[in-house]
Amino acid sequence: MISFTADQRFLVTGASSGIGEGVALLLNELGAAVIGIGRNEERLLAMKEKARFPENVFLEQKDLAEDIASLPAYVKQLREKYGKFQGLAYCAGMGGIHPLRAVDLPTLHDIFNINYFAPVFMAKGFADRRSNNGKGSAVVCIASAGGVRCDPGMTAYAGSKGALIATMQSIARELAPAGLRVNCISPTLIETGMAGDIERAYAEGKYPFGLGQVSDVANMVIFLLSEQARWITAQNYILDCGGVI
Ligand SMILES: NC(=O)c1ccc[n+]([C@@H]2O[C@H](COP(=O)([O-])OP(=O)(O)OC[C@H]3O[C@@H](n4cnc5c(N)ncnc54)[C@H](OP(=O)(O)O)[C@@H]3O)[C@@H](O)[C@H]2O)c1
Repeated sequence: MISFTADQRFLVTGASSGIGEGVALLLNELGAAVIGIGRNEERLLAMKEKARFPENVFLEQKDLAEDIASLPAYVKQLREKYGKFQGLAYCAGMGGIHPLRAVDLPTLHDIFNINYFAPVFMAKGFADRRSNNGKGSAVVCIASAGGVRCDPGMTAYAGSKGALIATMQSIARELAPAGLRVNCISPTLIETGMAGDIERAYAEGKYPFGLGQVSDVANMVIFLLSEQARWITAQNYILDCGGVI
C-alpha cells in the first residue's frame, strides 16, 4: 500500500480540474501535502473542499503559460514558501483538434506553451537540488497517446506531446545520477472536461473496458511518484485500454 507523509510535498499542476485534480486528491488521501496549481480559483477551492485532509492542500493560482522563462524562479519561490518538494506531477494541458489546413503559428505557440515549454521549465525548477528532496524525488508528466500514435487533425497537440515525451526521456537520463526519476504517462481518451463530444463519439464502443476514468491515470501517477517505482525512470506509459484506437 502506497502512503506518504505530510512533510512529503508535491507540486501538482492542473489541480483545478480533471486528471490533475484527481492526482492532487489521491496524493492528499494517501497522506502527502499538495501544492495545487491552476488558473481558476473557484475550481481550485472546490478541489480543496473535496480533499480528505484539506489542511494539507495549498492552492496557488497561476497562469503557467504567461511567463514561461520565469518558471524555475517560481518553483524557487514556492520552495521558500513551503519547503522542498518530493515530486512534481505536471497535469496541466490544452487539447484541441487542428488539422494542418487550419494550423497557424499562434495556435502552435499556445499549445506548445502549456503542453511543452511550461513542463520543461517547471522540471528545470524542480531539478534544482535546493528544491527537491534528492534521491527518490520524481517528476511525472501527463503526455498523451497522441504523442506516439496520433489521429488526423492533431498537428499541434501531437507535436507538443511527442516533444514532451522525448524531452522528458532525455531529462530523466540527465537527472538519474542525482537519484531523480522522470516519467511520462500517455493516456487515450479519459472522461474529463477535455474529452469533448467529438472525441467521445469517436471513442464510443472502442474501449473494451469503457472510457478511461481520472482514477485510472491518477493511480499510475501516484505509483510513479512513490518509492515503489524506485527503479523506473525515462519511461512513457501508454494507457490506451489495449491499443484499440
Ligand atoms: N482527458 C483526456 O482524454 C486526455 C487524454 C490524454 C492526455 N490528456 C492530458 O492530460 C492533461 C490533463 O488534462 P485533463 O483531461 O485533466 O483536462 P482538463 O480537465 O481540461 O484540465 C486541464 C488543466 O490544465 C490547467 N491549465 C490549462 N492551461 C493552463 C495554464 N495556462 N496555466 C495553468 N494551468 C493551466 C487547467 O487549469 P484551469 O482550469 O485552472 O485553467 C486545468 O486544471 C493534459 O495535459 C491533457 O493533454 C488528457
